[in-house]
Amino acid sequence: MPCQPPAVPTTEPRQQPLPASLSWLADELTALAAADLLRPRRLRAGRQAATVSLDGTPLVNVGANDYLGYAGDPRLVKAAAKGACAEGAGAGASPLVSGHSAIHDALAASVAALLATDDALIFPSGYAANTATLAALAGPGDLIVSDARNHASIIDGCRLSRAAVAIYPHRDVAAAAALLARPARRRLLVTDSLFSMDGTIAPLAELAQLATETGSMLLVDEAHATGVFGSRGSGLVEAAGVETAVTVRVGTLSKAVGSAGGFVAGHRSLVEFLRHRARAWMFSTAHPPAAAAAAQCGIDLLAAEPFRRQLLLERATAFRQRLRQAGLALGEAEAQIVPVFIGEPRRAVTIAARLMQAGFFVPAIRPPSVPEGSSLLRVSLSYLHDEALLDQLTTALISHVSHAS
Ligand SMILES: Cc1ncc(COP(=O)(O)O)c(C=O)c1O
Repeated sequence: MPCQPPAVPTTEPRQQPLPASLSWLADELTALAAADLLRPRRLRAGRQAATVSLDGTPLVNVGANDYLGYAGDPRLVKAAAKGACAEGAGAGASPLVSGHSAIHDALAASVAALLATDDALIFPSGYAANTATLAALAGPGDLIVSDARNHASIIDGCRLSRAAVAIYPHRDVAAAAALLARPARRRLLVTDSLFSMDGTIAPLAELAQLATETGSMLLVDEAHATGVFGSRGSGLVEAAGVETAVTVRVGTLSKAVGSAGGFVAGHRSLVEFLRHRARAWMFSTAHPPAAAAAAQCGIDLLAAEPFRRQLLLERATAFRQRLRQAGLALGEAEAQIVPVFIGEPRRAVTIAARLMQAGFFVPAIRPPSVPEGSSLLRVSLSYLHDEALLDQLTTALISHVSHAS
């Protein structure tokens, strides 16, 4: 029968003795455990949905980035199967050689149409898109000015580039302007549009103006905003009306779009240059056809179903309001990512464990994903979370966070 989930393994993995050359790992893992920073390995059964089975327990699921509910949608699953039937299970080669197929080409055109850019390039992941693009666009002698809370893939791309990197405090445009005044061959200003951990939104209009005034490239990573914001659903760059000033637009197909893969979109010369310099595109096997076909279906659906993003954002606003009224600390969150700030990792882990016992999967986010002392519970809302479910979640969060104080 098609789409039958695989059986959950019942045998314990074999325990090998730790080789002497790796004995240092034992100390590292002990130190992580002592600091409450060990990450459990959870096993999900079945598709992403409003409730999921984790380690055999059904839980309300606010621990995925499936914002529009497309990750488990039968229409995407069918598109993936058709894609695999047409082009095989694997792309078989880098896009530069023979990996780039008709499905990839159509997907790139759809991404460019959604973002209203000349062209787009599809990467195996959003992580690859950021690292490869930053390293291609900046090098020794150049300056990258980056928000302190940018995603790890931006941080790693900055490191890979070997450009000078200057970090400005979160969303501080004046500080970014001061840093951009440093001498450099070329300047690149980079920001997430919706910050993945604290749910804040970058001041895109001001950053766009700054980039224009200083002649800097502006790279905006829309990983969490694509599909959710903007009247076309292309993201916050569209919503802020700064499409012409944002010269490099990065995003992912793995969150609201419901599949996997990353993209960069912009002027045709930018895309042409990246085809010759973006190493994760040149030296990594192209996106599997099934994932590309599912992403294409997700993009078509988000254009046809604007009610999903509208309802998601309306419910997110009401949800944040209720938590704030109850005295929970949400910082300046203003989107479908709702952090509840807790502070120390142990406390965040304890509350997350109690919520799990009560039937809710709300991940505890700890350093290095967030700065020391600002561990949080991260609620990622989805179109699939209806009002009844959000009521239950609100009550549970208020009760468990307040009682743990
Ligand atoms: C802001 C941001 N950029 C990029 C990525 C990477 O995207 P992907 O999961 O497609 O590799 C993520 C993933 O969490 C992200 O949060």
